[in-house]
Amino acid sequence: MAGAGSAGRALAALLLAASVLSAALLAPGGSSTPDLDKKKHVELKMDQALLLIHNELPETNLTVYWNFDRCYHCLLQVLATVPQSRKAGRPGVAAVAVGTQHGSILQLNDTAEDKEVCRLEYKFGEFGNYSFLVKHVRDGVSEIACDLVVNKEPVDSNLPVCIAFLVGVALVIVVSFLRFLLSLEDFQNWISKAINSRETDRLINSELGSPSRASDPQPEAWRRSAAPLRLRCVDTFRGMALILMVFVNYGGGKYWYFKHSSWNGLTVADLVFPWFVFIMGASIFLSMASILQRGCSKLRLLGKIVWRSFLLICIGIFVVNPNYCLGPLSWEKARIPGVLQRLGATYFVVAVLELLFAKPVPETCALERSCFSLLDITASWPQWLFVLILEGVWLALTFFLPVPGCPTGYLGPGGIGDGGRYRNCTGGAAGYVDRLLLGDQHLYQHPSSAVLYHTEVAYDPEGILGTINSIVMAFLGVQAGKILLYYKDQTRGILIRFAAWGCLLGLVSVALTKASENEGFIPVNKNLWSVSYVTTLSSLAFLILLALYPVVDVKGLWTGAPFFYPGMNSILVYVGHEVFASYFPFQWKLGDQQSHKEHLVQNTVATALWVLIAYVLYKKKVFWKI
Ligand SMILES: *[C@@H]1O[C@H](CO)[C@@H](O)[C@H](O)[C@H]1NC(C)=O
Ligand SMILES: *[C@@H]1O[C@H](CO)[C@@H](O)[C@H](O)[C@H]1NC(C)=O
Ligand SMILES: *[C@@H]1O[C@H](CO)[C@@H](O)[C@H](O)[C@H]1NC(C)=O
Ligand SMILES: *[C@@H]1O[C@H](CO)[C@@H](O)[C@H](O)[C@H]1NC(C)=O
Repeated sequence: MAGAGSAGRALAALLLAASVLSAALLAPGGSSTPDLDKKKHVELKMDQALLLIHNELPETNLTVYWNFDRCYHCLLQVLATVPQSRKAGRPGVAAVAVGTQHGSILQLNDTAEDKEVCRLEYKFGEFGNYSFLVKHVRDGVSEIACDLVVNKEPVDSNLPVCIAFLVGVALVIVVSFLRFLLSLEDFQNWISKAINSRETDRLINSELGSPSRASDPQPEAWRRSAAPLRLRCVDTFRGMALILMVFVNYGGGKYWYFKHSSWNGLTVADLVFPWFVFIMGASIFLSMASILQRGCSKLRLLGKIVWRSFLLICIGIFVVNPNYCLGPLSWEKARIPGVLQRLGATYFVVAVLELLFAKPVPETCALERSCFSLLDITASWPQWLFVLILEGVWLALTFFLPVPGCPTGYLGPGGIGDGGRYRNCTGGAAGYVDRLLLGDQHLYQHPSSAVLYHTEVAYDPEGILGTINSIVMAFLGVQAGKILLYYKDQTRGILIRFAAWGCLLGLVSVALTKASENEGFIPVNKNLWSVSYVTTLSSLAFLILLALYPVVDVKGLWTGAPFFYPGMNSILVYVGHEVFASYFPFQWKLGDQQSHKEHLVQNTVATALWVLIAYVLYKKKVFWKI
């Protein structure tokens, strides 16, 4: 049966073809940056529009203040001052660049008295050209009118994303169709008669000394009959999170929604890491259960856990400290926390916890069809107790740890947020604990909060306090693994539990955030890994498993390709994409640095390449396991 193999090959070829095709389609056909007003010295970058402010008032200098409306409770920033009109028909003019990712707030005040002249809330478009006219309604009347005029329409920044999406959908349809054709027996016969391909194949292969096709390794391991429970939906989900992570780490076309939120809120980039942690939790449980079943001693397993965590942390420190940033053998500025470090620490705690209280999976539940108990939860009450205490520690530290110079229980970004009152309080207790224990120099120096909130202090999104919540996240993943194993022959029971967890955690998130971005008790926040962030993302993770499990594992409607392949080799893909980020063909010099579409093509091609690499390695049975 060559169906799966050839479909996979066809998929790989198509993927490459599509990347090349879209690269050709979207190639730099003439620069898209408009001719710039040289006199005014405003060079437009991506996500910027040109705003010309005309001041026709004869006796008033204007100060222009600006900020994004998304910047919560932020101080407005001085953008420009516009001189008074010298004489009628000669207005004072200032040209400025304004950001276009979010809506803008413009406030024009009289410079001398700092009194409001007019205020505008507007969403500018990328590379648009706008004029803002300030004048008296009629000569001699003190009433002032402000008008916004569009000189040149903006470009549609999201068009490349739409095209990429459509190309992706087309690809999926073509591949599904091919797979369908290949699954038809008649069609296979017709093909082999029409072109005697197998014969040629065999000849070529024997020429090259490769094994013939018939003995190709087939990915049979996932078939339900196979003994150890390796669930394909788990690997598929991991692969999805990983590929999304590669894409956003490579820049995500430089779109704001493919970058991390500046502070509160959720973007695409904020989704991937917790899902990865969640899946790690599920895998910890599934693999540990099968290892213990085979009679491996707990002590040996403990040694393995310690060694793996240690390796993860070491590789992590290596990955986040590219040496050209630091100079020869400098420890002074080495960053200590990071993604793999956090994974290592989380892995250690959760795996040891599960190992300490490991119990054999009760056979009754796996066999009895009527087993609708809460056994998966009650059987692990010591773990639950531990995790709840840990969460209590997070809450207590976050809300009651006194931080010098900052309000206790502060969850904000500092900087210009909160009216600029707590400039160096970024992250409240979480930031303070890291700065105290690890030191300013050993933290991440460019936190995403600097984008909107202009924060100045170092803040690490993978800090110590957040690790507590990533342990909670992983533990919820363990719970998913338990559901999958305890009720393994009752599809309905599994689906009901996934749905219940998804809804329950979703409700907790709604309560914690009051269904708002900034106004809740604990807002969803990636930089803090707040509780609501964990509940929201694990709710989504349960719902994704709810969709994937029946489709991928029960019915076998989808093999999980292409996500399945990177999911099987996650450490290699993660480390590889970080280390080779700036090498060709993952990166090349762009014709126009300020074009979203060129960045998008580059990042998509780089991501597709990692899928391809993972596919080839899978076929060659190369897996990096630590
Ligand atoms: C913007 O529009 C104004 C008014 O039409 C024009 O004078 C100016 O040259 C334009 N600037 C750019 C960069 O297109
Ligand atoms: C506006 O600014 C100019 C130059 O900075 C200054 O000479 C002028 O007096 C100011 N006008 C008012 C009304 O303050
Ligand atoms: C501008 O004027 C308004 C209203 O008079 C005032 O409240 C505000 O403080 C002034 N400055 C800024 C930066 O908004
Ligand atoms: C905040 O930190 C910056 C740099 O670390 C420092 O220059 C500034 O004075 C601090 N501001 C306050 C209000 O402490």
